[in-house]
Amino acid sequence: MDRREKEDYLREYSQLKSQGKPFFPYAILKDSAMAIIVVAVTVVMALFLGAELGPKADPTTTTYTPRPEWYFFFLFELLRVIEPPELVLLATLGVPTIWLIMLLLLPFVDRSSERNPLKRPVATTMGILTMVMMAFLTIEGATAGAPTAIELSTSPQYEQGRAAVASSGCLGCHKIGENGNGGPGPELTSIGERLPSQAIARTLVNPTRPMPSYASLRQREPEKFAKLVAYLASLKRESP
Ligand code: HEC
Repeated sequence: MDRREKEDYLREYSQLKSQGKPFFPYAILKDSAMAIIVVAVTVVMALFLGAELGPKADPTTTTYTPRPEWYFFFLFELLRVIEPPELVLLATLGVPTIWLIMLLLLPFVDRSSERNPLKRPVATTMGILTMVMMAFLTIEGATAGAPTAIELSTSPQYEQGRAAVASSGCLGCHKIGENGNGGPGPELTSIGERLPSQAIARTLVNPTRPMPSYASLRQREPEKFAKLVAYLASLKRESP
């Protein structure tokens, strides 16, 4: 800002100030009115629409998929994109902190008195890019599958069996492709090469400890059990 701009600005400011209204009571009144409206709308919505209570928490579940609230999806997605474990700290704490520091520094870096967005191409472009990036990450995060989803290519006939494996807790002890834990159970990525379906079914009903028995699953949901076994038997190195 050069001298003349500064004088223009000060003149305009003193003019506006002389015509202005005091903070108390004008601004206070406006703020209070708006605050009361917001609270009243919230109360009315709570009374007539109610708040949704999710299903009761089940501490024994092994298939729960933790997901953040939608407004954190962009951070969630950032964490998914940045895979190497040594970079996780940077993704969770580093990136948001760097952005905040940059925001704090902005008024010291950008000394322009210009307020029209069209006359501030750098700031405007940066702002739009940030919003586009956050929107993109939010959409990606919202549509991303659960981390327990199995990403091997599966033909449609095995789709339900694959879902059955994902929802039966197998991945807590077994690795299939990129998913699941590496232990205590052996990797099942190409289990179909080692065991025929009868042997897989036998293992599930009569497993060696610590693997739990899935006999009750066969009893309660024989179809799901059969699909699960068929899917496992189809897992060969040359994926179906
Ligand atoms: C609590 C951990 C645990 C869970 C949960 C679990 N397993 Fe296992 N599983 C094991 C262990 C440990 C072994 C190895 C047992 C042994 O030493 O024979 C095993 C063995 C197997 C085998 C035989 C592998 C081979 O190479 O012989 C199959 C097949 C199998 N599990 C499938 C499943 C399926 C399908 C599920 C889900 C429905 C499942 N497991 C759930 C721990 C688990």
